[in-house]
Amino acid sequence: MATFEEIKARQQITWGSGDYAKIAWITVPLADSLVEAVDLRPGSRALDVATGTGHVALAAARRFCVAVGVDYVPTLLEVARRRAAAEGLEVTFVEGDAENLPCSDGDFDYVLSAIGAMFAPNQEQTAHELLRATRSGGTIGMINWTPTGFIGELFKTIAKHVPPPFELKPAALWGSEERVRELFGDGVSSLIFRTSKLRQRYLSPEHYADFFLTWYGPTLKAAESLTKPAREAFRADLIAVANRFNNATDETAVLDSDYMIVIATKK
Ligand SMILES: C[S@@+](CC[C@H](N)C(=O)[O-])C[C@H]1O[C@@H](n2cnc3c(N)ncnc32)[C@H](O)[C@@H]1O
Repeated sequence: MATFEEIKARQQITWGSGDYAKIAWITVPLADSLVEAVDLRPGSRALDVATGTGHVALAAARRFCVAVGVDYVPTLLEVARRRAAAEGLEVTFVEGDAENLPCSDGDFDYVLSAIGAMFAPNQEQTAHELLRATRSGGTIGMINWTPTGFIGELFKTIAKHVPPPFELKPAALWGSEERVRELFGDGVSSLIFRTSKLRQRYLSPEHYADFFLTWYGPTLKAAESLTKPAREAFRADLIAVANRFNNATDETAVLDSDYMIVIATKK
């Protein structure tokens, strides 16, 4: 049985492969949704956990917060720094693990994560760290993909073709109220859940599949481990899921992905 550290080392390579900066084009709207959902107050200290190319940290900096972004993929942090510089925003981007955040206890008024902390394999330890970094009375805000939405189905398709080599709790469990209540336990005085949808648009369902197979680490790495016929079957399943969720009335793909916003007040 692999340890959490071994799993994370593999995941880190996966997130650093392809080019997540391109996939992040699609998730731009999530950051504004999250900072508005938590009613981010200017002048406060905000931590963006698993920041990737910096979406949430940048959104916080644009609202005059002291913003810090943490991620364990250095190449993504470089993109985030370039984006901050291009906009003249002051943001600190630090290399670090969501399961061992590089900050003191209660350092932040807001600890935020958009489709990021949900991927750390030790969910209990991640919840502990999100709570630890938040000051008493402060807010934890997360956006998590739901298990049955379009992206939840993408993860199931990946797992069908390339079963994870270790027993892992699915990341999308962070998109279920019951599991989030269990994870934050009595560390929070209130928990609010909202659901919403992210719209993605592609030239066609095939374009979506090929875009993800080329640039999204988890699909790219899964495809690389398959033989050519198995890879074709994987691609066909990705297209089938996109067809099932497609809202377009023409040849393009308009795909809505359900997500859950979690707003927690630290005790
Ligand atoms: C789907 S991306 C989301 C990135 C960003 N939050 C956004 O909204 O675009 C997931 C991110 O989580 C990061 N990540 C996953 N597990 C992590 C961990 N244990 N510690 C730090 N970062 C992690 C990955 O490197 C990747 O940047």
